[in-house]
Amino acid sequence: CGIVGIIGTAPVAPRLVDALKRLEYRGYDSAGVATLEGGNIARRRAEGKLGNLAQKLSFEPLEGRIGIGHTRWATHGAPTEANAHPHATERVAVVHNGIIENFRELLADLARDGYLPKTQTDTESVALWVSRELDRGLDPEMAVGRTLRVLRGAFALAFLFKGEDTMLIAARRGAPLAIGYGDTEMYLGSDAMALAPFTSRLSYLQDGDWAVLTPRGVTIRDGQDGIVQREQQVSAASALMVDKGNHRHFMAKEIYEQPETISHTLSHYLDMGAERVALRETLPFDFARLSRLTMSACGTAYFAGSIAKYWFEKLARLPVDIDVASEFRYREPPLQADGLSLFISQSGETADTLAALRYCAGQGQHVASLVNVRESTIARESQVVFPTLCGPEIGVASTKALTAQLSALASLALAAGVARGAIGPEAEAELVRALISLPSAVSKALKSEGQIVEIAKSLSKAKDVLYLGRGPMYPVAMEGALKLKEISYIHAEGYAAGELKHGPIALVDESMPVIVVAPSDPLMEKTLSNMQEVAARGGRIILITDEDGAAQAGHGIADIILIPKVSSFVAPILATIPVQLLAYHTAVFMGTDVDQPRNLAKSVTVE
Ligand code: G6P
Repeated sequence: CGIVGIIGTAPVAPRLVDALKRLEYRGYDSAGVATLEGGNIARRRAEGKLGNLAQKLSFEPLEGRIGIGHTRWATHGAPTEANAHPHATERVAVVHNGIIENFRELLADLARDGYLPKTQTDTESVALWVSRELDRGLDPEMAVGRTLRVLRGAFALAFLFKGEDTMLIAARRGAPLAIGYGDTEMYLGSDAMALAPFTSRLSYLQDGDWAVLTPRGVTIRDGQDGIVQREQQVSAASALMVDKGNHRHFMAKEIYEQPETISHTLSHYLDMGAERVALRETLPFDFARLSRLTMSACGTAYFAGSIAKYWFEKLARLPVDIDVASEFRYREPPLQADGLSLFISQSGETADTLAALRYCAGQGQHVASLVNVRESTIARESQVVFPTLCGPEIGVASTKALTAQLSALASLALAAGVARGAIGPEAEAELVRALISLPSAVSKALKSEGQIVEIAKSLSKAKDVLYLGRGPMYPVAMEGALKLKEISYIHAEGYAAGELKHGPIALVDESMPVIVVAPSDPLMEKTLSNMQEVAARGGRIILITDEDGAAQAGHGIADIILIPKVSSFVAPILATIPVQLLAYHTAVFMGTDVDQPRNLAKSVTVE
């Protein structure tokens, strides 16, 4: 969910909506704002996209000069207008990101005093609890301070109070929150991007902090209620005005940016002139002495790590574990001394990934992260941060962040291989050259779009799609299936090609498209024989390969999507390109909301 707040000198509702627009990537199933009208709390809320709220405000405008706003990704309660934030009593309005875990207990306690909820949300318990404290005679600051002590869970909150036209209160436990400083105004937002049109002077609340904002500034308290100072910084986000350029969707723009974003990321990790890997970060560990690499991530970032596992094992001879963060965090895995834990996250805010990080930090592991947002919580809690330099990613389905993650991971695997003596100078130069050639290979791969549009037309009629791959192409196949289901809503599975005959082959018939990801590498022949097993059963095969692969593919293939021939080291990165385009164009044919597919959110700050 996204949170924004303004203490302004002019009506704030239009600017709240503008800021919410920039937070829509955090959730968009309902939205709302609250302001003070003549000292009283007034709200406008709407189900669905932000446009609905904007329309409502055009019929029933709000004039207040102080307010809070929210765009929601539902956790408790359906995405209806009644469940949309802000939640309010007569005395207080609140917007909330995250989960109040003990809300049932709180509501039961409140009910004994006659404070009854009107919605099914966990958030309302907070509004009611603060109201009871206010009714007992506490001032807003005391009321919030007391309330924060009873809340359990991970959350960010912002409060607006009846009769208090120069004060907002904010609290952070887990979910991120930034304070923005204007000349005569003050702001509050889930991230720097939301506040970019208003100010670039920010400070980030730290975990457990809560803050009282007035036009004169802010007082921040930590979890023990002691007054603290949080450093003001100048955010670069204002320079990054986000628009779609000439593309119909952000996702298309982001797919096409990849030659450039891969170059940016690679140039951070490589000395291209010397054909050497050159890490700029000071490492708090020595690759040569590491006992094991443990990676954790969610969604597409997990597939980035799954591909990288092959690189670290093969090139650096480093033992690797990888798991989705939501499983890892509860497994209590025993971790070896001198182990490196690496967390991969575009946003740097994914709750499960953050929890996995905290577990590993607690176990005395070296903690590193690979993130796209440098100011993020995961970055701040890591001993070393490896950046992906692909700029803000707006489309919910990750594309350029994945190839940036892969470019960085490939470079890190090389660095590890060199440090561990598994890669000699010549091999290093050859592998670096392979990486350097990647951006232009990606440009060429993007040229198959015309053909992919045709294939996507037929895919859009399928009910189920199977993706197959072997070795590092196996996670590429899983990523392909994830992309397709996320944005086209067509059911898809990614399978290890060798596992086909142990189950999924039973699904194959003439109506089942099977996408085989097999550029020429040492494993291609094996995958091609699995493909022939599908062909023999009438499955409709779409093969992603290069010219060498096409020459060996044999009969019974409906379509071949050609990608340039590159070293097998970087081939998995290149193979993600046609997979992204296939999903994108299939979704366009289906007429779905490509950038904001139903039920999903870009940044998942709840577990
Ligand atoms: C969400 C997004 C995915 C993303 C995943 C992990 O589910 O929809 O696209 O891969 O979160 O996000 P992160 O920011 O940690 O990479």
